[in-house]
Amino acid sequence: MGCCQDCLHYVFDYETPRTLVIPHIGVGCVFRFTQILVVLYVVGYVCVVQKAYQEKDSVISSVTSKVKGFALTNVSDMEPQLWDVADYVIPPQGEGSFFVLTNMVVTPKQRQWRCPELPSPSTTCVDDCDCIVGHSDPRGSGIQTGLCVNYSSTLQTCEVFSWCPLELDTKLPERPLLAAAENFTVLIKNSITYPKFKVHRRNIMPQINSSYLKRCEFNHVTDPYCPIFRLKHIVSEAGEEFQDLAVMGGVIGIIIDWSCDLDWWAGKCKPKYTFRRLDNKHPNRNAAPGYNFRFAKYYKTSAGEETRTLIKAYGIRFDVIVFGTAGKFGIVPTIVNVGAALTFLSLVPLVCDWFVLTCTSRRALYSRHKIKYLRDDDDVDTESVSMGTTYGTQ
Ligand SMILES: *[C@@H]1O[C@H](CO)[C@@H](O)[C@H](O)[C@H]1NC(C)=O
Repeated sequence: MGCCQDCLHYVFDYETPRTLVIPHIGVGCVFRFTQILVVLYVVGYVCVVQKAYQEKDSVISSVTSKVKGFALTNVSDMEPQLWDVADYVIPPQGEGSFFVLTNMVVTPKQRQWRCPELPSPSTTCVDDCDCIVGHSDPRGSGIQTGLCVNYSSTLQTCEVFSWCPLELDTKLPERPLLAAAENFTVLIKNSITYPKFKVHRRNIMPQINSSYLKRCEFNHVTDPYCPIFRLKHIVSEAGEEFQDLAVMGGVIGIIIDWSCDLDWWAGKCKPKYTFRRLDNKHPNRNAAPGYNFRFAKYYKTSAGEETRTLIKAYGIRFDVIVFGTAGKFGIVPTIVNVGAALTFLSLVPLVCDWFVLTCTSRRALYSRHKIKYLRDDDDVDTESVSMGTTYGTQ
């Protein structure tokens, strides 16, 4: 019988918390201080900083751009040439990104013929035995014909079938050919939507009229909402010097931040522009810095021969990056976060209990009263007497 009782009491005993009032100034301070910490966290961080009571939505956007400006170039062996937007923006239209040509290596009058390969350890030769008919090196310029020919008076290389004469891209001008590109301007049109809140915005805002649009130019201080940007200004805001960047090219990000708080008047939802260089300014020595690609213009000579002008284009690619989240009061996130706040408050007594039972001088007395095993034969009256003494001695 006794054994059975011993086991069963673990199952059928009922535990109930009892309220213990401890008139101890230190514990009181810890209690209030922890409560204040929790309240500060909930009000200051969760509500004010994180705005956790809001529902969030992220932006959907479309970008178009239009560059304007002219440049005149004087490539040594060509006539002076005028460049307008159809010449230097390649391709003519793109998704949120446009490339402005600033420097180039031009190889005019190329036709398919035979010519000596550019000299390198694998292409120099002494006689025809060093060249293999039909061999094509992916890093070379064409298909070898099996002949060893004079590249210069002192140097022989394998002959290749290719677009001849071959491009010599070591001839890159040290001053950008289209230096005038720094004064080009670009108009960026950006429409955004927050689908969840059915909010639509444009970066050309209703208060921007067409006469302002004709003369304005973006500036963080004076014209922060003008959608027309001078390329030099964009590059210098990104911390670069335009004429240096224009030699080898690069990638610049135009970043439009549409973050907004829709609990206020939604007209506060305005774009914020920032600029930064996106490619690596200091690549390791072996990797070519900058940004370039090749394209060709094809034509037929009067003799009917297919001919092309090869252009290795160096320039600046501008990527327009749109991001942002909108927040608006929502009942579900509010309830979830109130719940989380209450949970935090319920942790406060745990901290205080730990303090009472480990850090106070009278912890033995407190723990005796805090954790109490009540038996059937306990006399309720002696209990209340002992409580009284505790209070009396405090
Ligand atoms: C760009 O415009 C400014 C002022 O209009 C002028 O001083 C500067 O020479 C121009 N830059 C180039 C490369 O033409």
